[in-house]
Amino acid sequence: MKAKSTIIFLLLFFLFTQKNVLPQSVKNIEQRIDSVLALMTQEEKIGQLVQFTGDWDTGTHSTEPKAGKKELVAEGKIGSFLNIFGADMTRGLQKIAVEKSRLKIPLIFGLDVIHGFRTTFPVPIAEASSWEPALVEKSARMQAIEVSASGINWTFNPMVDIARDPRWGRIVEGSGEDPVLGAAMAVARVKGYQGNDLSANNTIAACLKHFAGYGGAEGGRDYNTVDFSERTFREVYLKPFKAAVDAGAATLMASFNEIGGVPSSANHHLLTEILRDEWKFDGFVVSDWNSIGELIPHGVAKDLKQAAELALNAGLDMDMESNAYTKHLSELLAEGKVSGKTLDESVRRILRIKFRLGLFDDPYKYCDAEREKKTILNQEMKDATYDVAKKSIVLLKNEKEFLPLKKETKIAVIGPLANSTADPLGPWNQQGDAKDVVSVLQGIKNKCGDKVKILFEEGCSITGKETDGFGKAIQAAKEADVVVLVLGESLDMSGEARARATLDLPGVQEELAKEIYKTGKPIIAVLMNGRPLTINWLNEHAAAILETWFLGIRAGDAIADVLFGDVNPSGKLPVTFPKYVGQVPMYYNHKNTGRPYNPKDNYTSYYADYDNSPLYPFGYGLSYTKFVYENLKLSAKKFSKKESLQVSVEVKNDGKYDGEEVVQLYVRDLVGSVTRPVKELKSFQKIFLKKGETKKVEFTLTEEDLKFYNLDMNFVSEPGMFKVFVGTNSVECLENEFELTE
Ligand code: NOJ
Repeated sequence: MKAKSTIIFLLLFFLFTQKNVLPQSVKNIEQRIDSVLALMTQEEKIGQLVQFTGDWDTGTHSTEPKAGKKELVAEGKIGSFLNIFGADMTRGLQKIAVEKSRLKIPLIFGLDVIHGFRTTFPVPIAEASSWEPALVEKSARMQAIEVSASGINWTFNPMVDIARDPRWGRIVEGSGEDPVLGAAMAVARVKGYQGNDLSANNTIAACLKHFAGYGGAEGGRDYNTVDFSERTFREVYLKPFKAAVDAGAATLMASFNEIGGVPSSANHHLLTEILRDEWKFDGFVVSDWNSIGELIPHGVAKDLKQAAELALNAGLDMDMESNAYTKHLSELLAEGKVSGKTLDESVRRILRIKFRLGLFDDPYKYCDAEREKKTILNQEMKDATYDVAKKSIVLLKNEKEFLPLKKETKIAVIGPLANSTADPLGPWNQQGDAKDVVSVLQGIKNKCGDKVKILFEEGCSITGKETDGFGKAIQAAKEADVVVLVLGESLDMSGEARARATLDLPGVQEELAKEIYKTGKPIIAVLMNGRPLTINWLNEHAAAILETWFLGIRAGDAIADVLFGDVNPSGKLPVTFPKYVGQVPMYYNHKNTGRPYNPKDNYTSYYADYDNSPLYPFGYGLSYTKFVYENLKLSAKKFSKKESLQVSVEVKNDGKYDGEEVVQLYVRDLVGSVTRPVKELKSFQKIFLKKGETKKVEFTLTEEDLKFYNLDMNFVSEPGMFKVFVGTNSVECLENEFELTE
């Protein structure tokens, strides 16, 4: 007993006298965690599991903690804050944690850096349209550099939810409908945020969200019930999570939804069996905002106490804003409903990430006001966001090579989004400021200079019904050679809790387009929106269409560069565009069914009123140049599970411009013990071709690419025949066949 108290005394002595919480000699993080845990009271342990928000109502640049929270930090009863940033603000709080609290355990500061902090980058679905993981990694890296200079060491991103339903507003925050593209983007973002060294002062912990299945909300309505098979869950929805966990993501966030009756925040199968036991994840899981409390309306907990019990026992380590752990864990521990071991495990995971971030060695490493001043919105940031923006634009239509425009063209720039500086920031922009944004109008003016007359009219508002602005817009169109019509959604029509039951252009925008069309002046439609829209009329009548999503502060520059041909567009859709909302969920990697659509047979799977096909398929996107695919070749007709197959294709730039193309490889497993999708993306490469140039593009397929969850739910490949498709999108492909043998 005496020896034990001497050790504790010595450890405490070190804690209070050293800059490093533990002796330098204790290098190993696990040992250091053991030493900290040994000193912690039950209250202090619970404190590490608690996260609170800053006070939104203060309305300052960086929000303050709410009343009484600083005192709780001093008592060791808070482990983390969200929505508090700024080098000085975070330093002040960190100081309380490491100087006033008994054990000096540093705080971790989380924030939703979804596409930038002060410098707003393109929204995630736009970045995914680049199909360029290295670029997306760079974007995340820059975002980490910027926000880490402002006291933040943890972002609640990437959102890696697969979304097959554009009614769901949060489709904008992710990378679309495909698990392979989604996984590539998830890994890129984790690498970008976390860098090679999580303990560097400009890297931050990533948080994969929303774990899991959140994008499968019934009817596309946010927070709604999710119910799909374990097979679909694992093959589609979990794939990006698994890839990003393997890439070293530090944390995950449990989702709001239930799956098959079990809400994620109480889902032991998900949070412990799959995540920890199978995937060997050793970081921590945070709840979503009050998602522990929401176990009550979900109907699996009768009160907050039972919610806390379910959540912690399921493997949910940190409580964001539910107050469930603060209020009830002590009691639950006393009653034996939660074990000390379970509590310790969760504390350990949180401390592990704090150690990996290097916070115990230097708790102020993110709180450098000088660095903050130099980094926020600096030129390097602005250049980086432009580089990503120009690659995120998808050319959906270009009739008779109407684009690019000549600079001398007299242009009428029309539409409710044409001169908007707020909307290009998109939903979930963090500290974006409209005054930093280059609008489309400004971008075009900057490009053309004073010599060309640029006319501008809004025509109508984004959602309003008034048509009084039509007259002036029509007049402007008549005076111009061409109309750039900037249409779409406002920044707050997508994102959290922003489901829509229609996918049409809101308000009277389509009517405006129809009136402009009557002038006979060609229309170039520039779309800004957070989800696929049903734009059949525009597709038929506009001369050209650009999908630009929300491109961030350099939106206007990037769009003008594409309009005038300084940049040849190279984006491809990461998500299917349906023709009608009634077709959704609509995604390219669907099953064949027992009655695939056959126009000659009435009793097949189709809509009687409208056709089955999408407006634009997954992977679609045009270029100003023309790419021709030839000579799809396989290294063999058969290959065994131990071997690999080389697939090659020749791509020729047969047009007038240099350009980039995303070469896409899909596979179909023809017969399996369970049904397989009609096509599945397996690989892609983005290549640059000078005009006239031909390149041979090679892919390697291995057994791993052909695995799926078989009838017994084992992840295996099955020998047999496969089709392979290589092409410019998920529909226009060359195809061949091969056999996988034992
Ligand atoms: C709720 C959202 O679902 C989640 O994505 C976000 O990270 C948290 N709120 C914190 O702001």
